[in-house]
Amino acid sequence: MVKLNRRIAALKPSATMAVEGRAIEMKAAGIDVISLAAGEPDFDTPERIKEAARRALAAGKTKYTPVGGLRELREAIALKLKRDNGLDYEANEIVASAGGKQAAANVIASLFDEGDEVILPTPAWVSFPAMVRLAGAEPVELRCPQERGFLLDPSELARAINARTRGIVLNSPANPTGAVYGAAELAAIARVLRDAPQVWVFSDDVYEHITYAGPAPHILRLEPQLRSRTIVLNSVSKTYAMTGWRLGFAAGPREVIAAATRLQGQNSGNPASVSQFAAIEAYSGPQDEIGVMVEEFRKRRNLVVERIRALAGFELPNVPQGAFYAFPDVSKLLGLSHNGRRIADANSLSEFLLEEANVATVAGNDFGAPDHLRLSYATSIENLEKAFARIGKALKKLG
Ligand SMILES: Cc1ncc(COP(=O)(O)O)c(C=O)c1O
Repeated sequence: MVKLNRRIAALKPSATMAVEGRAIEMKAAGIDVISLAAGEPDFDTPERIKEAARRALAAGKTKYTPVGGLRELREAIALKLKRDNGLDYEANEIVASAGGKQAAANVIASLFDEGDEVILPTPAWVSFPAMVRLAGAEPVELRCPQERGFLLDPSELARAINARTRGIVLNSPANPTGAVYGAAELAAIARVLRDAPQVWVFSDDVYEHITYAGPAPHILRLEPQLRSRTIVLNSVSKTYAMTGWRLGFAAGPREVIAAATRLQGQNSGNPASVSQFAAIEAYSGPQDEIGVMVEEFRKRRNLVVERIRALAGFELPNVPQGAFYAFPDVSKLLGLSHNGRRIADANSLSEFLLEEANVATVAGNDFGAPDHLRLSYATSIENLEKAFARIGKALKKLG
């Protein structure tokens, strides 16, 4: 057996990607699988952005760029941060990376060490705990129960912070719950963090524009004092239907951004040059297509909430207010069986639904919620209708 690096050996494949992979295999085998597993908009990248990429290709913009991204891109991101978030950043306080994922991983690796603790309000996106562990630090899950709308309780946060706490990751709108912090709720959390000067705050804004009850407030607008220890994470992936282009960024204090850029320079280099030109257009051009996508997501969200609530054993007390996920509680189904196979947790329910309904979902297990299932509605109304009809039929087989 090959002796792998200790931290890599302990690394699990990304759960969301694993389910997608299995669904793709089944589709390749001719099975009509409907995927409610995808973490990406089903829309095509807007034409104006593709055109900018074609122009870049035609002009031969296919060489290495500065490691942290073209200055022109970082300036476009700075203007975006001002326009959309009311935040002031200079180009040298921004690093562009291969997706928000790489930007987050590089900053986490740059900031944290063995012995450090990073608080993850849970359910949390599957990659954060892995990134923290890879840095040698320890993720500390802080449960945000469904009864509180999956939102963090400021007094619990205050109690959880200790001398080893060095960071916290906030993600609103959230993957996988669709929860969005209101201004008062976020301000209360910001006040707790203001009084914990050793704690770095990650504001993961990748779903910022996909909201159904008004814009999501930004922690730095509510508590500007946190700026000297806040990292803003974002990417073109979800906002502009550009997941495959792999272009995201981190913005924060110069020293940390410089460290993350050095790391990137050693382990990967600049994000793809053509994607950078596409992202410049995404951030700088007309923004109308976002609203069109969000309105479509809203229709689907409304449908999905209704269909989930009609499923026996599924509960969805909170209407998701952002992103494109619903995160129903499936605990009522646990313990039931089909053909001698027991539904022990969301993982086995997800497998059951894939086999019996040919619908791909993501179990809540890896998000820290083994009694919930993540259903993505980044697929057509027609597919959603079909998927819920199939799920309803399959659930009848459980007893
Ligand atoms: C909460 C959250 N943060 C960050 C990302 C990173 O996305 P990307 O690397 O495509 O920018 C994702 C993608 O699924 C996400 O769900």
